[in-house]
Amino acid sequence: RSDRTFTMIKPDAVANGYIGDILAAITKGGFRIAAMKYTKISKEQAEVFYEVHKERPFYGELTDFMSSGPIVAAILEKENAVADFRKLIGATNPAEAEEGTIRKQFAESMSKNAVHGSDSDENACIEGAFHFAGTEMF
Ligand code: CMP
Repeated sequence: RSDRTFTMIKPDAVANGYIGDILAAITKGGFRIAAMKYTKISKEQAEVFYEVHKERPFYGELTDFMSSGPIVAAILEKENAVADFRKLIGATNPAEAEEGTIRKQFAESMSKNAVHGSDSDENACIEGAFHFAGTEMF
């Protein structure tokens, strides 16, 4: 579906107390929350979730970090959700993120970058299904 994307508020942003601010920015950005949970993933789950990055040098660091503490996982709905959400969160590297974007405001670094956003409709679907059963989507 082209109208949904998947996001996680990452362990850094949760630990820094930004859950509320980030959800407010998401809502102000025009996204409807179709599913949401406060959860924690294991190292093994992180390795499966980020399998596309398996060969990258940062895979170990990324999966350690993403399993280091609680996250907020959510499915978001809006017309053109994937592209519009990536615009709202800004560049992966917060040093390159535009003013006003979520990462510019709340991210610490390339790996501790506050939020995840799916990079395609196909991945949004796969990532959403990783975290939510059909009965948890509204
Ligand atoms: P995310 O959108 O969750 O998808 C993959 C993640 O890998 C990305 O956000 C970054 O947090 C992380 N990442 C990408 N490049 C690097 C890098 N060079 N060093 C560390 N982490 C990275």
